[in-house]
Amino acid sequence: MKKIENKNKQYIYIAQAAKEVGRCKIGKTKNLESRLKKYNSMTGKSKENIYQYLFACEVADMSQLENDITEEFRLFREQKNKEIYFYSDDLLDVFVNFIKSHKLFVEEIIQKKEEKITVKEVIVKRVTPSLKERGLTHQDMLGISQKVKNDEFYTRYDDIEKELSMYDKSIWKNKTVFCNCDDAVDDKKNERKTSNFALYFLRNFKELKLKKLICTHYSGGIDLFNQRTKGYVHTFIFTKDGFEELRETPPGYDGSFDHPLSLKILKEDADIVCTNPPFSRARDFWKILIDSGKKFIILSIFTNIVTPVFIPYFKKNQVWAGHNRVDNFINHKRELVSMPTHWYTNIPIKDRPKSKNLKIISLKEIPEKYKKYDDSKILLVDNCYIPSDYKKPFAVSVNPLLNGVLEKGYKILENNEDYIPHINGKQKFRRVLIQKI
Ligand SMILES: C[S@@+](CC[C@H](N)C(=O)[O-])C[C@H]1O[C@@H](n2cnc3c(N)ncnc32)[C@H](O)[C@@H]1O
Repeated sequence: MKKIENKNKQYIYIAQAAKEVGRCKIGKTKNLESRLKKYNSMTGKSKENIYQYLFACEVADMSQLENDITEEFRLFREQKNKEIYFYSDDLLDVFVNFIKSHKLFVEEIIQKKEEKITVKEVIVKRVTPSLKERGLTHQDMLGISQKVKNDEFYTRYDDIEKELSMYDKSIWKNKTVFCNCDDAVDDKKNERKTSNFALYFLRNFKELKLKKLICTHYSGGIDLFNQRTKGYVHTFIFTKDGFEELRETPPGYDGSFDHPLSLKILKEDADIVCTNPPFSRARDFWKILIDSGKKFIILSIFTNIVTPVFIPYFKKNQVWAGHNRVDNFINHKRELVSMPTHWYTNIPIKDRPKSKNLKIISLKEIPEKYKKYDDSKILLVDNCYIPSDYKKPFAVSVNPLLNGVLEKGYKILENNEDYIPHINGKQKFRRVLIQKI
C-alpha cells in the first residue's frame, strides 16, 4: 500500500480474487488491511485464490459514496443485496472514473496497473502451440476455466431468434456465418449440448440460404457442453438437402477468437460474425472484429455505447445498436441469470422500430423535469426527449442512443468521450455529448 493507513480515515475499494476475474467487490472500510485479511480468510482454502485491491481511495463520506455507487451501477451487481459487481477491464475504468470524479473522492491510495494486451502481443504470445509446449497441464487448464466462470452466460434461443429474424433475410444468402465463441452441435439428438447460435443457423439454413456455418470452441471455458479442454473448429457446409459436417481439432488450437487460426477464418472465410463474446474480453473482441471489416451481429453490455473505449466506434459509424435489449441468460449451472446487454451490428437497420420512442421536439416543448443544465451549463435531456432546434452540444443517456438518435441527424461530439455531468456539485451518471448536424 502506498502509504500508512490512518484509522480515522474512510476508504472505498475495489477488490478481486485471483481466480474470479469476472467479478469484483466494491465496498467501504475504515481499515483496508484488515478488510483484505477478512476476505482472504474467507477464500483461505486456496492460496492461489487470494484477494487483492485493484483500486482503493480515501473518501470524505464512505457510506454516501457507497450508496451512490450502488445506485449508479445497480445493473452491474451480480446479486442485488451483495457488494459483488461484474468485472471487466472496461468496467474497472468505468468504476474508477466514477469514484475519482465524485465530489467525495479525496485521494487515490492504490491503483493496480492495467496489463493491457494488444492484439499484436496476443498473436505473438499464441505462436507456441501445444499445452505441453506451453508448459501447461490439464490441471492448469481447469484453473483457467474457473477464471472465466463469469463469462459463462449462454444466450437463450428465443432471444437470438427474436433479433435475427428482424433483419432482411437477403443478408444471409450464400454467406458464411462465423460463431467464434460458440460450441457447435456435438450430439444432434441432444440439442442441449449446442450453442443456441449454432442451433439457430442449423435450423434455419435453408430458409436463410446459408453457404456455411463455422463455430469455434474455446478450450478455456467451463465445460458446459462436455467438450473437454481442446479447441476445435466445427464447419457445416450446406447443400440443398442438408449439410456436410467437418470437425477439426488442430494441434495446439485453443479456440480463442484471437488465436491465429481463428483470425485466419475471420479474415478468409467469414462473411458475418454472430455471437455473444466473453464479457471479460469485450474490448479486444470489438477491436479485432471491427478491424476485420466483416459484417456482424453480436451481443455486448448495453452501456458500451456510453463507455469511452467503445464510443469512437459509434462515432465513426462502424457499429450501431441492433434491435433488442437482452437481460436474461443461462449460466453454467443452467440457472437464469441477469446481465444487461444489447445487440450491436454494422448491418443496416431499415425503419428502426425503436426510433418511435424518440421524442424529437423543440426545446421549449420538452417538459421542465426532463431538461436540466449541468454546472458547466451543458443541457441534459432525459426520457428520450431530443431538442430539434438546439444548436449547441447536449447530453443524452443510453436509451436515445440505442433507439437510434444518431440516425436522426445528430452526431457524437469529437474528443468528448468521457463526459460525467455534475449538477450542484453532485455527480450524475455518465452520458454522451451529441449535437445536431
Ligand atoms: C457470454 S458466453 C456466450 C456463449 C455463447 N456464445 C452463447 O451465446 O451462448 C462467452 C463464451 O465465450 C467463451 N470464451 C471465453 N474466452 C474466449 C476466447 N478468448 N475466445 C473464444 N471464446 C471465449 C466463454 O467460455 C463463453 O462460453
